[in-house]
Amino acid sequence: MSETMTLNPKLALSMEPLVFLSLSLLPAIAEVGGETRLCGTNLKLLDPHPSVVATKLLERRQFRDCGKQFNMIACSWLQFMIHDWIDHMEDTHQIEIVAPAEVVGQCPLKSFKFYQTKEISTVSLQPNTGFINRRTPWWDGSVIYGNDEAGMRKVRAYKDGKLKISRDGLLEHDDIWIPISGDIRNCWAGFSLLQALFVKEHNAISDMLKEHYPEFDDEKLYQHARLVTSTIIAKIHTIDWTVELLKTNTLLAAMRINWYGIFGKKVKDLFGNIFGAELSGLVGLKRPQDHGVPYSLTEEFVSVYRMHTTLPDKIFLRDINDISNHKSAPPIQEEVNMKDMIGKEGERRLSKIGMEKMLVSMGHQSCGAVTLWNYPLWMRNLVAHDINGEERTDLVDMASIEIYRDRERKVPRYNEFRRNLLMIPIRKWEDMTDDEEVIEALYEIYGDDVEKLDLLVGIHAEKKIQGFAISETAFFIFILIASRRLEADRFFTTNFNPQTYTEKGLQWINKTESLKCVIDRHFPNMSKTWMRCSSAFSVWDSDPNPPNYVPLYWRLA
Ligand code: HEM
Repeated sequence: MSETMTLNPKLALSMEPLVFLSLSLLPAIAEVGGETRLCGTNLKLLDPHPSVVATKLLERRQFRDCGKQFNMIACSWLQFMIHDWIDHMEDTHQIEIVAPAEVVGQCPLKSFKFYQTKEISTVSLQPNTGFINRRTPWWDGSVIYGNDEAGMRKVRAYKDGKLKISRDGLLEHDDIWIPISGDIRNCWAGFSLLQALFVKEHNAISDMLKEHYPEFDDEKLYQHARLVTSTIIAKIHTIDWTVELLKTNTLLAAMRINWYGIFGKKVKDLFGNIFGAELSGLVGLKRPQDHGVPYSLTEEFVSVYRMHTTLPDKIFLRDINDISNHKSAPPIQEEVNMKDMIGKEGERRLSKIGMEKMLVSMGHQSCGAVTLWNYPLWMRNLVAHDINGEERTDLVDMASIEIYRDRERKVPRYNEFRRNLLMIPIRKWEDMTDDEEVIEALYEIYGDDVEKLDLLVGIHAEKKIQGFAISETAFFIFILIASRRLEADRFFTTNFNPQTYTEKGLQWINKTESLKCVIDRHFPNMSKTWMRCSSAFSVWDSDPNPPNYVPLYWRLA
């Protein structure tokens, strides 16, 4: 049995995927307006009504994009990661939400049904109940490899360590057009495109390993290629995607420190991780560090990743045969409604569009801004999927569901959430934003009871730090979990070595610094022809980052 087979906790977890989503911020007792109050939990599930919040504060009025900062590849990457990490198990019991009279005329669904989240006993005092994650929470690439034995078997080619892929470079499909991949629930064309890109990457790594280690059988090639691919995904997320999401020098430095340490890549390449977490980075630490709490992803993490506002209403397909204007956006050829890019229909369309055109088109399209009144209307009567990718018959209003979900899962509301993170709570709406229209709308729904403010609404309403595509409140959770995902995993620590990854596998990881490197590998002319910007996650015709001769750690934040 190979080293990776015996040592791979990710593989072990893939066979046993039911991991708790613990609630790390327990309900707190707080002094609010001179009164002692148990925040969060004493607030009712329907107070204020989720459909009212969805209609009056979330639903898109006019699409707002996020400028040149983040494109549709970055938006799809979000979902690509979510489908690697989290999916709450549902109960068999259905909830029905009926829109109240005050908004019923504005709700696409007057009422809708969905499954309650399955709640189980934690056998501990606080919290005494919790929820189950159907996906493996490790950064194990389960989004392409699967979450259990059957899922893993389905995607493997069982030849030379490879995964199945169709001749056009996209995912294979079953006879009813459901894609063959690790996770296929609620998929859309942009998401399945990223899955296909990383299947290509896995297969290229298998080829490379086969060339250097001819003695490796299919199993060994698969296991090693999987480790290398998963780590490349984690690295891109850490030092490319997150850096674009939180575009400041401080965060650029922080994320690179997470991976390479303060001494940087060159020193780490020479000496490895000999100076510890701060100086040499979290990756390659001698031992995993879970700070005394077994690793899992938390409810709060799920809540701050609720970013369906990044989804647009349409996808603009570009004419990639028109190369008259080097490195500028190719002309728009067709506009397709997002709704038609989802599920089986989306897969059929993608196979006609082709991988190259879809990538270039998504690269040139800005994604939605994380702000109020930007929640896609088309998601308010959505055909959701079962875990096997089959379409459900009951349409759902996602904007209302999301408000309900956080309350149902006892995630603290906005102010208590901040208090628990030792952030300053708000006392009045003006503490959160200076936008008069937002203040007025919040007052209309929540009165002046700031303790009632839903977390989802708060993180969309909060005034953003310059350069940040997300709120400061969400950022706290992002940054905590970003480090934890690396330091708690022995495949990024104890076992980040040539014995586990192979020498050539580690070299492959080391030379891959960004998504652009992966794109260049599989589409050698694409970035040369179409990308002006520095990161594949920015809008491709935007300016590259200007050269900065000041060493990174000396730059002003
Ligand atoms: C066309 C694309 C997408 C579709 C159709 C879709 C659909 C869905 C559906 C149906 C759910 C389950 C809702 C429930 O019952 O609680 C869900 C959950 C979720 N989605 Fe999406 N989604 C899409 C893209 C995204 C994107 C871009 C993000 C960005 C981060 C995202 C983040 C999440 C999160 C965090 C959850 C909660 C997961 C959980 O409760 O375990 N989704 N999505």
